[in-house]
Amino acid sequence: MTKIIDGKEISAIIKDELKSKVEEYKRNGITITLAVIQVGKDPASSVYVGNKKKACAYVGIESLAYELSEDTTQEELLMLIKVLNNKKEVNGILVQLPLPKHIDEDLVIQTIDPGKDVDGFHPQSVGVLSIGQKGFVSCTPAGIIELLKRSNIEIEGKECVIIGRSNIVGKPMALLLLRENGTVTICHSRTKNLKEVTKRADILVVALGKPKFVTKDYVKEGAVVIDVGINRDENGKLCGDVDYEDVFDKVSAITPVPGGVGPMTIAMLLHNCVESVSL
Ligand code: GUN
Repeated sequence: MTKIIDGKEISAIIKDELKSKVEEYKRNGITITLAVIQVGKDPASSVYVGNKKKACAYVGIESLAYELSEDTTQEELLMLIKVLNNKKEVNGILVQLPLPKHIDEDLVIQTIDPGKDVDGFHPQSVGVLSIGQKGFVSCTPAGIIELLKRSNIEIEGKECVIIGRSNIVGKPMALLLLRENGTVTICHSRTKNLKEVTKRADILVVALGKPKFVTKDYVKEGAVVIDVGINRDENGKLCGDVDYEDVFDKVSAITPVPGGVGPMTIAMLLHNCVESVSL
């Protein structure tokens, strides 16, 4: 029997745990505030930002929304970040990506105070993760670790293969699986004999951004498959990077799209906001 890893259910449990923590902080006079900045009106970004604000409200985190116009200059955005860096009452700062082409994303990320970098994208956050110290961890890979742990899937000693080497998912995912004592391989567009490598995986994390790319000939019998992709198929229906129906009977556990990794990303953002009080 294939286990469906229910990210919606697990994220709901995490949100309720965080809600109690936030209430406890409130009783001690501490409120948690997240500043969310969106530049322009990209429809997908607007949906994500809306979901983040809703989730904050649910757990009792205050959110300050900054909706800036598409033609905001880089200087104006950097200035806003600097103002928020200096505001004691702001615990976390999130700049929704992607940004318009005239703005340097790396520079924007570097300008955020690392102590408020709840996305975990700042070079300092990435650096402390790579040397095993405490810091903010990128939300999607952190959410995947939670999914595995809360589904009682052991990582230690397992062959973990990741398809995709992005700064937001693939690379931090590798570091986190390594921290859990997995044996880690990262595959990417130049990997030779991709299927040979992915078929070694006990745990396969797929984050390459191609709809239904991974079919049953990429997976080992009984593997655990984590699908990070969010795409539209030819009929406009949401689908992952994994061909869910095709691999389903061959794998031991799999995350659905939607309802797998997606809801966990937001839960871990809230987790990072709560952590920001004590980090
Ligand atoms: N765009 C897509 N995913 C993310 C994310 O996790 N954080 C931010 N800030 N922007 C994104």
